[in-house]
Amino acid sequence: MRIGIIGAGELGGSLAEWWTQAGHDVVVGSAPAGHLAGAEGRPAITATVTAADAATFGEVVLFAPDWAAAHTLVDVTAGALAGKPVLDATNPVVWRDGAGYRRAVPDDLSGLETLAGWAPDAHWVKAFNTVAPSVLRRRRGRDPLLAEFICTDHRDARAAATRLIQDVGFAPFFAGGGSNACLTETGGPLQLREVDVADATATFAQAVGANW
Ligand SMILES: NC(=O)c1ccc[n+]([C@@H]2O[C@H](COP(=O)([O-])OP(=O)(O)OC[C@H]3O[C@@H](n4cnc5c(N)ncnc54)[C@H](OP(=O)(O)O)[C@@H]3O)[C@@H](O)[C@H]2O)c1
Repeated sequence: MRIGIIGAGELGGSLAEWWTQAGHDVVVGSAPAGHLAGAEGRPAITATVTAADAATFGEVVLFAPDWAAAHTLVDVTAGALAGKPVLDATNPVVWRDGAGYRRAVPDDLSGLETLAGWAPDAHWVKAFNTVAPSVLRRRRGRDPLLAEFICTDHRDARAAATRLIQDVGFAPFFAGGGSNACLTETGGPLQLREVDVADATATFAQAVGANW
């Protein structure tokens, strides 16, 4: 599969490396092209281009920049993202001096829904946003399999995320439509939860019922 990556930092760079090892064709985009923190020490990553080029290249796109850059990056890639599955790994938070990370979207809106508002023709799917890359690195390909929660309204995006999660050694768990993405993002009950696949159904049910 051709995968374009927008924002190859710690998370995007790790996934770029693992998908390349799994046999996918991966191109990573940064700003400016060529400066790529996530590529350092990862010889598998060779092609670095602009975010727009990465979006054009991918049959599937991973969107994993800082939230502060998200709107700008959607503006320059929306045309290329139209009709494609786009895995959104972001958490909608920004750093505020003295106050740490703060949510940057209204309480009643998830980051995924915000992105879908900016680029309504992309097939957004929430994935890879609940645990740190260090956890993914420790758990990938090992039993018990780590559950990866995905939320989307699009059939092709669900299929693409399912395959790409399995290809790097995790267990995809469908956690409902796009409006459920808030369960997985910062402030939601699934955020930072390291869940074995055997516990995923119960954990998800608890999260849906949680008064949060
Ligand atoms: N770390 C975690 O625990 C974790 C877990 C799940 C999800 N997430 C979410 O995943 C996203 C990435 O996290 P991370 O830990 O990988 O962060 P990171 O290492 O700081 O990487 C962020 C990436 O965003 C890119 N970026 C920033 N401004 C850009 C712009 N204008 N154009 C293109 N690229 C730009 C940076 O590119 P340059 O290298 O070119 O500056 C960098 O590659 C965040 O939204 C985060 O909330 C993080």
